[in-house]
Amino acid sequence: MPSLIPQENLASALRGAYPELGSIAAAGGECVYLVGGAVRDLLLGRERGDIDVAVVGDAAELAAALGAETVAAHERFGTVKVVLDGHEVDLATARTETYERPGALPTVAPAGSIEADLARRDFTLNAIALPLADPGIVVDPHGGRADLEAGLLRILRPTSFIDDPTRAIRAARYAARFGFALVPETEELLRATDLTTISAERREAELLRLGAEPSAAEGLELLAGWGLLQTGEHWEALAAALSELLDESPWAGEVDPAQVWIAAARGPHGDVHGLANAHPTQPSQAASLARHHSPTELILARALGAEWLDDYMGVWRDTSLEIDGDDLVAAGIPTGPALGRGLDAALRAKLDGETAGRDDELAVALAAAREG
Ligand code: CTP
Repeated sequence: MPSLIPQENLASALRGAYPELGSIAAAGGECVYLVGGAVRDLLLGRERGDIDVAVVGDAAELAAALGAETVAAHERFGTVKVVLDGHEVDLATARTETYERPGALPTVAPAGSIEADLARRDFTLNAIALPLADPGIVVDPHGGRADLEAGLLRILRPTSFIDDPTRAIRAARYAARFGFALVPETEELLRATDLTTISAERREAELLRLGAEPSAAEGLELLAGWGLLQTGEHWEALAAALSELLDESPWAGEVDPAQVWIAAARGPHGDVHGLANAHPTQPSQAASLARHHSPTELILARALGAEWLDDYMGVWRDTSLEIDGDDLVAAGIPTGPALGRGLDAALRAKLDGETAGRDDELAVALAAAREG
């Protein structure tokens, strides 16, 4: 179970982690609160992240009073992103939200109190506010601290997943990230969630946020367990292999883990299986098989067993010639298909270790170009 930072240490922890909030406190007085994930993470003693400040009043006015650089503003939601001491800070007018139909974007109205703003939020652990004027006081009307301490994820309202089904995917992200359990009522509501009332784009964006987490595999498992994601065949084997491959050379940094996890959960396409089952005998053959596949497809095929793809990704993919088309033109080859034929032949020979240097490459290329 997580142990939370003691109440008497909150103010100094806040000043230490987020010194840029001092100027907001000075400009906003009693009306400004730290809210959302930053409060949760501060209580858990986790690293600083993005910060959201709720303004009971007008966020745009506060931004103007701060004289800070504004990098984005959304009038519809009353939000302004500013840069303070080199850090981005989201200022948002405290608001209420109502949903015209399941999955619709909310209709927002200014909230008269911080409590009203907290009441529109997703989980109790995300519905805690710290008044910047006195961060020692915690505004926690939904028992977020107790749930954090108990390691529990709890929705605020029974209609929450109906109003905004992206929250079901968020639930998997938080439960996996923190290793928290769902309270039974919340889990029951999750299992009844209909993800089809939101657009494919919103669903995809939220899934990618889940996929980007170090605990993506656990989060996707949870979603599948709640019946909200149909995992494809080979999921378990893929998950085990990818957990290692994604952190290792030559794959780390060359693929987008979020894309990879989502594709793995859905199950690889037929052409990935084709690649996984291929047994090239020469590097040139391997390169021509792999070349037209995306990095995501390549790592999935590797995870399904095509170990030769390590060499492709780490070496063969980046193998290039010392000569180029100009060298062939200078040797009398006319521009046209013969050039491509010559260069391809030279690259194949180089990949297969049949050339040693520029002269060899040129000889192979010229022979192939003149063959046509
Ligand atoms: N929120 C919500 N419902 C959503 C999205 C967001 O209630 N569908 C609220 C939550 O209070 C959340 C806050 O808006 O804490 C900020 O959302 P977001 O930036 O997505 O998440 P963080 O809390 O910052 O968490 P993290 O970045 O760690 O995922």
